[in-house]
Amino acid sequence: MQEQEKKAVRLDTCDFRGVQPIMMALPYPPVQVAGKNSEYAELLKFDYCGSVSEMSAITQYINNENRLSCGKCSLAKVILGIAMAEMIHMQKLGQLIFLLGGTIDFSVRQRGGKRQLWTPEYLKTPENARNMVLADIESEKAAINQYRMHMRRIRDPYVNAVLARIIRDEEYHIMTLQALL
Ligand SMILES: [Fe+2]
Repeated sequence: MQEQEKKAVRLDTCDFRGVQPIMMALPYPPVQVAGKNSEYAELLKFDYCGSVSEMSAITQYINNENRLSCGKCSLAKVILGIAMAEMIHMQKLGQLIFLLGGTIDFSVRQRGGKRQLWTPEYLKTPENARNMVLADIESEKAAINQYRMHMRRIRDPYVNAVLARIIRDEEYHIMTLQALL
């Protein structure tokens, strides 16, 4: 017979009160578009919920934070602050997709038209803290590259202004994460 699991209160003492989104102290441009454009909406959906996306960033950071908070509280708080900024990015993208006439869901259109739902298989969640931070830096770099690629294809200055502002935060996140190594 298996020994019964020892019962004892387990407490996470990490206090997340006061954690703020970690982002550049610069205003965001107004969320507006030059007109409806389904092609641009589909592009932004990759940034919203594709493999490299705000959805992936948020869930990867929250995964990290959940596993770090008991032993590495100060690191967990920084990670949560970055995740909060990514949530604001996701919100801005969602608003733009809506204004462009796109559908707010968690799918992207693949070549051939088939839709692919977001999946946690997109995430990189290694075991130790240093490798988590390294994976997070790589994800931030990939996000910046994807935003820049999309800005070259999008001819709407209002949309591109928001993307350029988001990139400033992602660059700030890379600096913040590198300081943790
Ligand atoms: Fe972001």
